[in-house]
Order: sequence, then C-alpha cells, then structure tokens
Amino acid sequence: MKPKIFITRKIPTHVINHLEEVCEVSIWEHKDIPVPREVLEEKIVDIDGLYCLLTDAIDLELLQKATNLKVIGNMAVGFNNIDVEAATKRGIIVTNTPGVLTETTADLTFALLMATARRIPEASDFLREGKWSTWSPMLLTGQDIYNSTLGIIGLGRIGEALAKRAKGFNMNILYHNRSRKIEAEQELGLEYCSLENLLKRSDYICVMTPYTPETKKMIRKEHFKIMKETSILINTARGGIVNENDLYHALKDGEIWAAGLDVFEQEPVVLDHPLLSLPNVVTLPHIGSASIGTRTKMAEVVAENLLQALNGKIPTNIVNKELIAK
Ligand code: DGY
Repeated sequence: MKPKIFITRKIPTHVINHLEEVCEVSIWEHKDIPVPREVLEEKIVDIDGLYCLLTDAIDLELLQKATNLKVIGNMAVGFNNIDVEAATKRGIIVTNTPGVLTETTADLTFALLMATARRIPEASDFLREGKWSTWSPMLLTGQDIYNSTLGIIGLGRIGEALAKRAKGFNMNILYHNRSRKIEAEQELGLEYCSLENLLKRSDYICVMTPYTPETKKMIRKEHFKIMKETSILINTARGGIVNENDLYHALKDGEIWAAGLDVFEQEPVVLDHPLLSLPNVVTLPHIGSASIGTRTKMAEVVAENLLQALNGKIPTNIVNKELIAK
C-alpha cells in the first residue's frame, strides 16, 4: 500500500506529480486560503506524511490525533508553527527547508533596509498622488546606507548572507548571537557585541534570529530607548521577536527613525494595526523567500525530505535530530 501524504496548500504541479509516483496524495487545493483546522484534524488521523506551511499550527492537540504520522515537512526554514517536542515524543520526524532560501531572503532584507532608509514606497506614493510640484532641497530625504553601521541580531546563514551584501556598501558590521562565530568574523570583518552595545551603535538593526521561547519579544521598550534616534529596525524573521506595541510607541515618539517589517506577530496583519498608521513604517506581507526559483526549490526540498523519511532514510533537513539515534 502506498503511503498517504496530505499537502496543505496548492504547490507546484511537478512536485505533486513526483510525490504521486510513490504516494497517495491529497491536497487542500486553495492558493490563498489556509487549510481549515477541521480539515487538517480529519486528514491527520491516517496520513503517513504531512506537507505543511508556516500558516498551519501543528500543535499537541493535532498531533494526538495523528496515529500513523511519520514525518512533517514544513515549507519554511522557521518551524515555530510546529510543536517539535510533541512530535519528537511521538517519534514523528520534523523537517524544514534551510539553505535554499538564504540568498533570496538576504536580498529581500537588504531591499527592505534600502526602501525604508530612502523612503521609497512613500516617495512613489507621493508622485502617484500628484504631490510632486518641484525638486526641493530637503524633499523626502532619508538616511545614508553607504559607510553606515549595521547590527545583525542572529548570525545564521541568512545573517551571514546579509553581511556579505553589507560589505559591498562598506558598512561597519556588528553582530549579536548566542555563540561567537570567529570564522565569519575573520572572513567578513564582523565585530561581536552584546545586544545593548549593538543597539547603541547601529544605524540599521536587522532581526534575523529564529523565533523561540527565548527570543519571544526580545526587542522591547528598554531596547528602543538606547537605540539612536536615526536608527532603523528591520525584521524579516518573525514578528513575535519584537514587542510591536513598544515598537509603535518608539516610532511614534521619535525614539527611532523608521522600521521595515516583513513579518508580524499575527499574520495577516489587520489593516487597523497601529503600526500601519505610521508613515515611517515600510511593510511587506512576509515575502522574504518569495522568488519563483526559491519557492519552487523549497517545495522540492519538502518533497524530498518527506520521501526520504517515508523510505526509512534520515531526511537531509531533519530538525529533531534526537530521533536519529532511535
Ligand atoms: C521561513 O522559511 O521561515 C520564512 O519565513 C518563509 O520562507
């Protein structure tokens, strides 16, 4: 009997076809509507493999219903939507998609930094709204990027890729991480700092850390108070890492200059969210890895991980490595 896989959203056809060669596949076909909880609860009961997205909460309650599940393939590098501990206890392998999205996400992070610093969306709206009457010395002036100081919080793959881009802009690069990365320091000329030191000295602060209980709301009121009034916060990691209410007040009160946000604590962010009322916030709908090539590769990686696990192999991108010994 073929193993059963459930895919929680429409994904590239060639990936579905590949999975169908060896599996019985069912799909929540919608492109833009997350799978309803009741459908997921019904499907989880007898499937062997789950292909899910960061919009699907794979929690203890759901996993308790999964009597046959062997592997969960998350189409993201972050896996905070999955209760990995509960999966591990049940012997269920969890996989993610690191590596393939590194450069694309670093590109977007740098693009958001530049768009925020130079007020690009605001300037574009200004022109389209017919407000451009003349060239003017201080019209829509922003912050310089070349020669400025970048602080990276969380020096993983994407953080390092961001640092490489920043080097091209002759930026002085600081980083804060759980552990020091001497090789990266030497290769890229980075300086390791405490969080406080980084926040005080940086012109641009990029949040690049995974979302865990330790990093939940790690950037808050007291941190904005020590940042430069001209500084810009960029978050392309997870919204919950920054206290959004504190960020709103810091931006409104001029404690910091602007923010570029690709992620929010609740997604999609509601249109009456206070942060969206501020002109000095540039927002995007969580598109860090959204290039055609990268999203396609991510889908292929999820499929490969699922097939490896269902064939009794250790998937390339296993998250709960403690299961390997078992
Ligand atoms: C991830 O992979 O965690 C991103 O947020 C989406 O690509």
